[in-house]
Amino acid sequence: MSAPNIDTIVSLAKRRGFVFPSSDIYGGLGSAWDYGPLGVELSNNIKQSWWRWLVYDRDDIEGIDSSIILNRLVWKYSGHEATFHDPLVDCRECKSRMRADKIEGKCVNCGSTNLTEPRNFNMMFRTVLGAAAEEDDPSALAYLRPETAQGIFINFLNVQTTMRRKIPFGIAQIGKSFRNEITPGNFILRTREFEQMEMEYFVKPDAEHLKLVDEWVELYLEWFKSLGISGDNLLLHEVPGEELAHYSKRTVDIMYRYFPERPEAERQWEELMGIAYRTDFDLRSHSNKPADEEGKRVNPDSTEDLSYFDESTKQRFYPHVIEPAAGVNRTVLAVLMDAYSEKTNDKGETRVILKLSPQLAPIKAAILPLAKNKPEIVGMAKAIKRSLQPVLRAVYDDTGGIGKLYARQDEIGTPMCVTVDHQSLEDEGVTVRDRDTWEQERVKVAELAEYLQRRLKATSPVQPAAGTSSLEI
Ligand code: GAP
Repeated sequence: MSAPNIDTIVSLAKRRGFVFPSSDIYGGLGSAWDYGPLGVELSNNIKQSWWRWLVYDRDDIEGIDSSIILNRLVWKYSGHEATFHDPLVDCRECKSRMRADKIEGKCVNCGSTNLTEPRNFNMMFRTVLGAAAEEDDPSALAYLRPETAQGIFINFLNVQTTMRRKIPFGIAQIGKSFRNEITPGNFILRTREFEQMEMEYFVKPDAEHLKLVDEWVELYLEWFKSLGISGDNLLLHEVPGEELAHYSKRTVDIMYRYFPERPEAERQWEELMGIAYRTDFDLRSHSNKPADEEGKRVNPDSTEDLSYFDESTKQRFYPHVIEPAAGVNRTVLAVLMDAYSEKTNDKGETRVILKLSPQLAPIKAAILPLAKNKPEIVGMAKAIKRSLQPVLRAVYDDTGGIGKLYARQDEIGTPMCVTVDHQSLEDEGVTVRDRDTWEQERVKVAELAEYLQRRLKATSPVQPAAGTSSLEI
């Protein structure tokens, strides 16, 4: 079972401290969300899993963290100033504003066909740099990045030379990106501020680029499954030629079933991530060397040539790039939707259980005293919590009766609850309850840390292999 719709997750997320509507006390801010105590843990665990999988487990990828605000020229030569726009139309009847390519000639609000002609709207967030700059001073104009990728391209040589890398190798980055979306919405699926996990994999110009896209698609499918997402809720979409981004020769999107409640199968899916073959477009256009047919320098502003010299063949070339680009927020939503389940207890009450993979669960073990008015039991429970903390994320909770405490931990996806009772004071044992089966087992406190770690590992989906490319590149 997974969540019947996004609204179920919006309500759970707010009720239990995962995600709150932002600026709520001032009436909110359209499609902005704040991550609460559990949401920030879940999101960090996803990012850590990704970083470990690509940067630590593999031997061919480095990580970086570049600036959000870059020189405006980066966005000129990346093509974003000229082409990063969506077609916008207004409804003359109800004054709604929407994306022309997402509607079928009809206003999504009132159904009217009385719409303005589409006009291009650049989605980059504008800002001005410097305290004395005028709002409309073009020399002070800057943008918040709409993708993390460009920070990687402009650092290609810095990373390659300092880390003494040979092609093929990749550079990974996690960070915020900003897009002035015309129609944000559907909770954290489409927002103006979001987080990306992007990796640019640099290969030779004559590598089997299209096959490499397929390879990365397979690796990512395995990674998403290792986060606990069911393969049945993932779908591949080959982006048609006319919809490709200006830099892409081929893009495959991995889609997630975010809208299971929709009757038409094709409308149930939305992009979770994309894997694009970006050719040598970015490194070439940021370089000072390339010239057009008339011999004129294409980029007179750059001071660097971002080409690569291959020692083995004594050839210089612009590396080509395979780019898997994933969204943190969309992964958080997919993970939450897939983990959602309901179970009826023996009193006939329906309980929500968030079956998060243990590696992603915000809290791994909750330590619960059976009697909070018994100082010895409370003291023992708190001491257990403290002793577990260096090994795994544990919390102590005595804010309700044991039934309520179990229900709360089930709903936030805590894999194990540890109960300290009267008998614990005598036999140095505790009861460990499993979130998914509700089965209980008695365990000695001295063996608890090792026991919990073993159980958490046993119930985690298998991590995908590091997956260094098998292709001849
Ligand atoms: N560098 C390539 C690139 O940015 P993209 O398909 O535009 O490609 C990659 O974005 C991923 O970033 C998307 O698959 C999605 O997960 C996430 N993303 C893009 N726009 C988003 C938005 N407005 N809100 C939330 N996530 C977004």
